[in-house]
Amino acid sequence: MDREKERPEEYRIKGRRLQTLPAEFLWDGLILRDDIFNHTGQVLLLPKGETITRDRLEKLMGFYGDNRNIMVYEETYLEIMTDEHTSPEARQKMMENHTGYTRLQKNIGDLFERRDYDTWLNSAKLAPLIREVASKLENLDPVMILSCINFPRPMDEGLQRHSLNVALLNGMQAEWLALDPDDVNTLVLAGLLHDIGKTMIPEEILNAPRRLTEGELAVMRRHPVYSDELLVGKFDDNVRMAARHHHEKLDGTGYPDGISGDEVGACARITAISDIYDAMVSARSYKGARLPLDVFDMFYRGDFDGLDRNLVMTFLKNMRERYTNRQVLMSDGRRGEILFIPINDAEHPIIRQGDDVRQTDEDWYCKEILAAGG
Ligand SMILES: [Fe+2]
Repeated sequence: MDREKERPEEYRIKGRRLQTLPAEFLWDGLILRDDIFNHTGQVLLLPKGETITRDRLEKLMGFYGDNRNIMVYEETYLEIMTDEHTSPEARQKMMENHTGYTRLQKNIGDLFERRDYDTWLNSAKLAPLIREVASKLENLDPVMILSCINFPRPMDEGLQRHSLNVALLNGMQAEWLALDPDDVNTLVLAGLLHDIGKTMIPEEILNAPRRLTEGELAVMRRHPVYSDELLVGKFDDNVRMAARHHHEKLDGTGYPDGISGDEVGACARITAISDIYDAMVSARSYKGARLPLDVFDMFYRGDFDGLDRNLVMTFLKNMRERYTNRQVLMSDGRRGEILFIPINDAEHPIIRQGDDVRQTDEDWYCKEILAAGG
């Protein structure tokens, strides 16, 4: 097993927290505001005030043979994470590490890979995981959580990331709806397990890098039924019904049962919104300009049939609030701040850049929303 992964998460020097960082994320010309250490945190590699040069960088990267990680203080980590020298992919990786998303995702992946459902598929076994998700929701900046969610993912991470994301989004929605803590937990659990039935779908259909045939689509559409079968008798009925009904639509055009209106319960309605949001933000390619803001527009326009309009409006209201006053990277390469997100045109927010205030358009648009301080 990779020794890297066995190391405990937290290292401290004189009470200050250290974080692991790949040395390649440093850049030529970076002036260190703080000391940096080797990958164990025990050897001082460069003292604060020094400038990183290409030569020094290469030496650092070669310092421990295959181990190209260094350790830096948390403040340095945040500074590097939000610096414009850092690529969007590197920023993403650092953010996922920093927030603990990476570890949660790995834990969920480990569970989903195990087919002995009888052992782990019960409330008591999942309680610590649900508590951890709930504590992220309580303690982290929601935009940091959303930044972990809003990212395209490799195929083999699809299900675990999606399950974690829907759990987080369900938890956020539950809080925005002012539900009591038990209901928040039920919704987080429902998000985590809604697609568990997909683990019963053959790999070649689940991960097919092409359009599915009619027959394959029919198999794929059985996954809510499999979820129900795996969860029955083990969880609160709301969790099970959210899993069975998250693809149902209020107008009766959904699957697997084609139910409509009041037959679709609240947990299923909420999970449906989280499910669609996550699918939309993860499908974009990095070059395209599809940001959460564009997805808000699709929700507002009603591009997705059969959702609960009141829940959609609560979702949009809160999402818009979270993204207002955020730093963004614009298509001209400069930074700006979101001043206002129009409800009926979220795709074109009003941006402040220096002394200029203007609305985005086709030629000048947001490329990336920056989390954490910006
Ligand atoms: Fe699903």
